[in-house]
Amino acid sequence: MDGLGRLLDVRNMDVCFRTHEGESHVIRDASFCVNHGEVMAIVGESGSGKSVLTQACLKLIPMPPGEIRGGKALYNGRDLLQMNENELRAVRGKEVAVVFQDAMTALNPTMRIGAQLVETIIEHEKISKRDAKARAAELLRMVKIPNPEKYMRQYIFQCSGGMRQRVMIAIAIACRPKLIIADEPTTALDVTIKTEILNLLVSLLRELGTSVLLITHDLGMVASYADRIGVMYAGRFVETGTSHDIFYRAKHPYTRGLLRAAPRLDLPPDQDLATIPGAPPNPALPRRGCAFAVRCANCMEVCKAYEPPLTDIDKEHTTRCWLLDPRAENIRNSEEAGA
Ligand SMILES: Nc1ncnc2c1ncn2[C@@H]1O[C@H](COP(=O)(O)OP(=O)(O)OP(=O)(O)O)[C@@H](O)[C@H]1O
Ligand code: SF4
Ligand SMILES: [Mg+2]
Repeated sequence: MDGLGRLLDVRNMDVCFRTHEGESHVIRDASFCVNHGEVMAIVGESGSGKSVLTQACLKLIPMPPGEIRGGKALYNGRDLLQMNENELRAVRGKEVAVVFQDAMTALNPTMRIGAQLVETIIEHEKISKRDAKARAAELLRMVKIPNPEKYMRQYIFQCSGGMRQRVMIAIAIACRPKLIIADEPTTALDVTIKTEILNLLVSLLRELGTSVLLITHDLGMVASYADRIGVMYAGRFVETGTSHDIFYRAKHPYTRGLLRAAPRLDLPPDQDLATIPGAPPNPALPRRGCAFAVRCANCMEVCKAYEPPLTDIDKEHTTRCWLLDPRAENIRNSEEAGA
């Protein structure tokens, strides 16, 4: 996809936190993009940096202790990281909306749902209160909340988990954003409601032409929604490609491990899933070589010494693994000869 197709183009992001353990380097040279009208998913284990990366793009991480050391987050060609607070506020909410993991903390518990929706609409648009109210009811209808007038008068704690997520989606789409970032939007829900909410979110956004950045640790969950997928491990993208590339032609040992660990529709639900043994490295410790090396069954000597370079598999499919490097054959032969 050429540059014109890109709504969000994030390049070479580097983010650190100063912690009591020292400096924790949590995002390392991470690049990804979201094209107009597509669903892009970022997948990785807990702690891989999915939330920090996406929040850093909107300067939403606490600074300090956080620090954006380098990179660009181009939104429609303009770098969000160079914008002042006023410019950023105009982008957040109006252009880019975030649906968070936890509706209870993201929504105001002391305000009625209708009032929160009206406030969001009025904050970003010149519109009368009466029209904003009518729009609020319409939004609740769009997210399939039965009897919107009743829900407008309720508080968030009076709603079930599924209803709360619907209200969050209604608030997120209130100003017709161009991009919605959905960070684990369904973690706290049971699997049937989870599927229902994701179906709603994705079909609604496809209808509105809104781009989506879906963030999750469950690769199985994005199978039917994502156009493209970026797999993160220890602060880096280790493999990026179309959904087809990732599900049918995965190259990186970590992606393959995630696939084995993802629930599958063609297996009984009680079938034991494979897990990837070991744990990701501590981002506060110095690192050498491939971050996955200690967990990787294919690890070679070169992996322990040098960071694997980015290799293009084809136009949209890239990976960071020495096995895919054009020099891999020679590396293997020389290692075997030396062994
Ligand atoms: N305020 C902070 N101070 C120090 N370290 C932080 C802070 N926020 C996040 N981190 C660290 O950054 C790393 C990435 O965290 P992040 O929350 O982005 O992971 P994640 O991929 O979103 O995980 P999850 O799937 O659990 O949401 C982790 O090692 C985390 O401990
Ligand atoms: S670079 Fe080496 S250790 Fe890292 S994933 Fe590839 S084979 Fe495994
Ligand atoms: Mg997260």
